[in-house]
Amino acid sequence: MMLDEILQNRRSIRNYQDKPVSLVTIRSIIKDSTLAPSAGNEQPWKYLVVSNKAMLDRISDECRQNFIKRIAANPGDPAKKYEKMLQNESFHIFYHAPAVVFIMGETNVKNLVADCSLAACYFMFLATSKGLGTCWVNFATAISNPELRNELGIPANLKIVAPLALGYPKKIPAIHPRKKPHILNVIE
Ligand SMILES: Cc1cc2nc3c(=O)[nH]c(=O)nc-3n(C[C@H](O)[C@H](O)[C@H](O)COP(=O)(O)O)c2cc1C
Repeated sequence: MMLDEILQNRRSIRNYQDKPVSLVTIRSIIKDSTLAPSAGNEQPWKYLVVSNKAMLDRISDECRQNFIKRIAANPGDPAKKYEKMLQNESFHIFYHAPAVVFIMGETNVKNLVADCSLAACYFMFLATSKGLGTCWVNFATAISNPELRNELGIPANLKIVAPLALGYPKKIPAIHPRKKPHILNVIE
């Protein structure tokens, strides 16, 4: 696939085929995603792969509940607009994707969010080039239950930056219209 085709086809996928993604494929995407740039070439990204359905269901429930609590504690929370959706018990934050890859790193890394986001961007494009779909699921940054974090192997000093649902799309949706680029100035 050429880059322009990858850019067109990389859409957030919320409808997946009931078909597993092989670990070989996931490992290869992860490896190539580390070609992303990082501040000071620190490469602070760490990856967690979860394809166990029961575990993904548990994470979905945990994060849904945590977001509901967060919104109740602060009605001005920007996530308020998703409250109804989150209250629906059948809402699965990963849209039943067969796998989720979490990209994270140590909280004390200065440019952690930028570095992990770049790796995530590479990951999403690589997945697209292999006919896979992804969706960055911010709700899944809210895993706080220490027992669950322990089972997943996420120590307290790691911050989840990019949880990426991964699977074969049922269909690639049309592109949401983009705003005209706001170019402040062109100084020639
Ligand atoms: C930081 C970030 C967080 C996101 N969180 C969610 C999320 O929790 N759930 C979801 O369905 N989509 C999420 N998305 C996907 C966006 O909704 C999506 O990228 C946007 O609507 C544009 O659509 P496109 O990705 O198909 O171009 C997130 C995207 C980004 C970059």
